[in-house]
Amino acid sequence: MALPATNSLTPGVTLDVRDAVKSYGDVKALAGVSMRIEAGQFMALLGPNGAGKSTLFQLLSGLFVPDAGAISICGEDFLKKPTLGLAKLGVVFQQPTLDLDLSVTGNLRFHSSLHGLGAEGRARIPQLLVDVGLAGSEEKTCRSLSGGNRRKVELARALLHKPRLLLMDEATVGLDPASRTTLMALVKQRCRDEGLAVLWATHLVNEAEQADRVYVLHKGKKLAEGTPAEIVAASACSTLEEAFLKMTGPASGAGKPEEKAA
Ligand SMILES: Nc1ncnc2c1ncn2[C@@H]1O[C@H](COP(=O)(O)OP(=O)(O)OP(=O)(O)O)[C@@H](O)[C@H]1O
Ligand SMILES: [Mg+2]
Repeated sequence: MALPATNSLTPGVTLDVRDAVKSYGDVKALAGVSMRIEAGQFMALLGPNGAGKSTLFQLLSGLFVPDAGAISICGEDFLKKPTLGLAKLGVVFQQPTLDLDLSVTGNLRFHSSLHGLGAEGRARIPQLLVDVGLAGSEEKTCRSLSGGNRRKVELARALLHKPRLLLMDEATVGLDPASRTTLMALVKQRCRDEGLAVLWATHLVNEAEQADRVYVLHKGKKLAEGTPAEIVAASACSTLEEAFLKMTGPASGAGKPEEKAA
């Protein structure tokens, strides 16, 4: 499905996905997903293991193209002009992707060069590291950092080119509660202060409860979307966890606050 030639998308819509389909052989990972995220909005993508969250991220970051459907980032057709969308996109992937032998600053400088940011990008690195709580760690190798601090480096790297849309794929897996809270607070502050739009994939209900909106994905399909309160009310449950388990089934083990292996 092609997007209209003229941009008829609502102003302020940062991400617009329409009927995205993606299969791996016989496995239909996404079965027609549509989603809109506005500037400044924090959307949790809540789904159990295998729901299709990372597959959606792979489409949104241009690693795969959908079998069908349309994706627009900041009003540009991402499938026709991916470089325009990629320039506006920051991503923290589910699997860590830092060069562990480089310093914290070295990882960010490398990213700055990849994005062609030049001296202006490099000049932003010190303040960004202060913002994410890594002042004093600039010259440490990433290998020497804790898991939580490595994730903060990945967040700083994802923000370095001033994206309009941030994708966080289970970025808090393996982190202790304090580090999780810090990471989420950092991202929410950027939503409020800079109008950053965020898609935050998680299988943890207590993270989704803190989002502006929640998109419940299961077996490649949307089961519900709305504010946490709207989803609870629509399901006639008393908590989001109950609503999520009612929708996805307790057998998935989803929604529990325990961690899974990274
Ligand atoms: N490269 C691949 N080849 C074949 N099947 C795949 C591949 N990647 C994902 N899948 C399948 O697609 C479905 C969706 O997987 P995906 O990784 O997108 O889910 P997820 O919601 O990110 O899960 P998790 O919470 O475990 O990270 C699953 O059935 C998975 O086994
Ligand atoms: Mg995943």
